[in-house]
Amino acid sequence: MKSEAFLVFVFFFSVGLIYGEAAETKELENVICKKCNCNADKNIIDCSKKGLKKMFSYDDWAALNETNDSYEELLMDHNNLESIDVQFPPLKFPLKRIILSHNKINKIAKSAFGNLTYLEELDLSYNEMTAQTLKPDIFKGKYSADEYEPIVTLKILRLGNNLLHYLDDDLFEHTQHIQELYLDNNPIQVIHPNIMSAFSDIPQLQVLDLSRNELTDLPSAVFQPVKALRVLNLEGNLFHKIPRTALKYAQNLRELSFDDNPIDDLNDVNAFPSLAKLEKLNLTHIGSLRSIGEGAFGGFPKLTELHLSNNHHLSFIHPDAFQFPEQDDDNRTQWAPVKKLFLNNNNLTTLESNSFITWDDMNEIHIHDNPWLCDCNLNYVLKHLMPIINKTTPHLIEHIQCAEPSVYAGHKLMDFKASDFEFRCMDKYNAHPERDSALLVALFLGIILGMPLTCACILIYQRLFRPKQGAAKYSRAFYKRADMQDDMHI
Ligand SMILES: *[C@@H]1O[C@H](CO)[C@@H](O)[C@H](O)[C@H]1NC(C)=O
Ligand SMILES: *[C@@H]1O[C@H](CO)[C@@H](O)[C@H](O)[C@H]1NC(C)=O
Ligand SMILES: *[C@@H]1O[C@H](CO)[C@@H](O)[C@H](O)[C@H]1NC(C)=O
Ligand SMILES: *[C@@H]1O[C@H](CO)[C@@H](O)[C@H](O)[C@H]1NC(C)=O
Ligand SMILES: *[C@@H]1O[C@H](CO)[C@@H](O)[C@H](O)[C@H]1NC(C)=O
Ligand SMILES: *[C@@H]1O[C@H](CO)[C@@H](O)[C@H](O)[C@H]1NC(C)=O
Ligand SMILES: *[C@@H]1O[C@H](CO)[C@@H](O)[C@H](O)[C@H]1NC(C)=O
Repeated sequence: MKSEAFLVFVFFFSVGLIYGEAAETKELENVICKKCNCNADKNIIDCSKKGLKKMFSYDDWAALNETNDSYEELLMDHNNLESIDVQFPPLKFPLKRIILSHNKINKIAKSAFGNLTYLEELDLSYNEMTAQTLKPDIFKGKYSADEYEPIVTLKILRLGNNLLHYLDDDLFEHTQHIQELYLDNNPIQVIHPNIMSAFSDIPQLQVLDLSRNELTDLPSAVFQPVKALRVLNLEGNLFHKIPRTALKYAQNLRELSFDDNPIDDLNDVNAFPSLAKLEKLNLTHIGSLRSIGEGAFGGFPKLTELHLSNNHHLSFIHPDAFQFPEQDDDNRTQWAPVKKLFLNNNNLTTLESNSFITWDDMNEIHIHDNPWLCDCNLNYVLKHLMPIINKTTPHLIEHIQCAEPSVYAGHKLMDFKASDFEFRCMDKYNAHPERDSALLVALFLGIILGMPLTCACILIYQRLFRPKQGAAKYSRAFYKRADMQDDMHI
């Protein structure tokens, strides 16, 4: 009996043990890594394109938490999430990047990311957030004595491709350390005071992407609260004029893009202000731009990279466009120290040698795909720039072609490489000198050969082919009247 009792005990004990273990493993089932690709070596949880409709639950996260694996990145892009309705729980591992782009998110719970004390980057682009649903308390963090429930670690916030017309005044009250804000591809038409008020909470902002909105202008004080701004993208908006006053306050700008805007011709009225630190400027795909006049660029003493390409109607750049007075001596001029110049795919016919102070220091010169007028003004390009281009971007050299004069139309500049070859100058009527010279030669030959020939002909005619009676008729014609008068007397 004793042993029977012992056996029964052992049986139930084992069953209990097995059952308990099964229950424990069930509880710890790692749902997240079952559905997604967990790469603990690269610290990535990759849930892209998994057809997910719901965010993971607290238990799902707890199970992953137990594994002791460390993850820094969560990819949940290209799923069917419509809302983030639960908060992320506190996690053992330092989750730094969460990508939620390409979903249908239109609602996010209060303090959804508040437990993630390492979160640096949040991507909510390509969703359906509106100004009404994108509320400040979504970004609420933990209590802090210094700031209002902040997420102090958040540096990059991507809100592109949503339905934002404006921003809540206090949108960034919990995320005041944001350095990069992406608001591209939203329907913002005007920077209303609430957007400026929102900006006033993020004084450390360095990168602002407002590309592909519907902006026509900027309020003059828009950049006053974000004085640290270094990169500004205004590509694909509806600017006709350069928002000169607004830009004046952005004196820390390093990069600026106005690509693909309907900008009017640039001149001393529609001009950029002086931007002392600007290094890169983009002005491409501007179909309305025909000319860039003197004083268009108020002065960029640090400009090293200029993208002024694919402006299909741009046919004139004033040689002094990139020249500006020196700061402490108005009488002396300075040029933008450009190192990379993109002038390709415009409608330029000529390039003045004095447009930039030194071409020799340039690392890249892109001038291909322009209808170059190959006259003496282009000799500079031929002799001086072609060798630089051949050295720096040799693959583009064959696309540098003459469009005019017609004798050279379609000829590649690289084919004129004989060291003594020079293009000829056009005359002042912009006629074709090479045709003129042919004409002149013909005329000259005509005169030289023609004169003695004519004389010879007359002489021969007079001496050989003028019979006596012919001579009488000849004189009669001259003296007809006299003859008639003579007749009258008869
Ligand atoms: C993850 O582990 C940490 C530390 O052990 C703990 O504080 C946290 O609550 C856990 N999170 C979950 C969801 O279990
Ligand atoms: C995770 O770490 C804790 C303590 O550091 C340890 O007790 C536990 O066994 C570990 N879990 C796994 C699954 O390695
Ligand atoms: C963090 O998660 C816990 C549950 O684990 C929750 O009670 C708390 O409110 C969360 N949010 C913040 C901001 O602490
Ligand atoms: C300017 O254009 C270059 C080349 O296309 C690009 O790499 C850069 O990001 C653009 N700058 C801005 C501010 O958009
Ligand atoms: C390019 O400039 C020429 C004059 O130099 C002009 O006749 C022509 O229409 C322009 N082409 C475009 C596409 O603007
Ligand atoms: C610039 O030139 C003007 C007249 O040519 C002169 O009066 C002025 O003093 C000069 N300024 C400096 C800073 O040299
Ligand atoms: C470009 O450079 C190569 C050698 O690097 C040379 O053979 C070629 O003739 C050059 N072309 C022109 C157009 O200068």
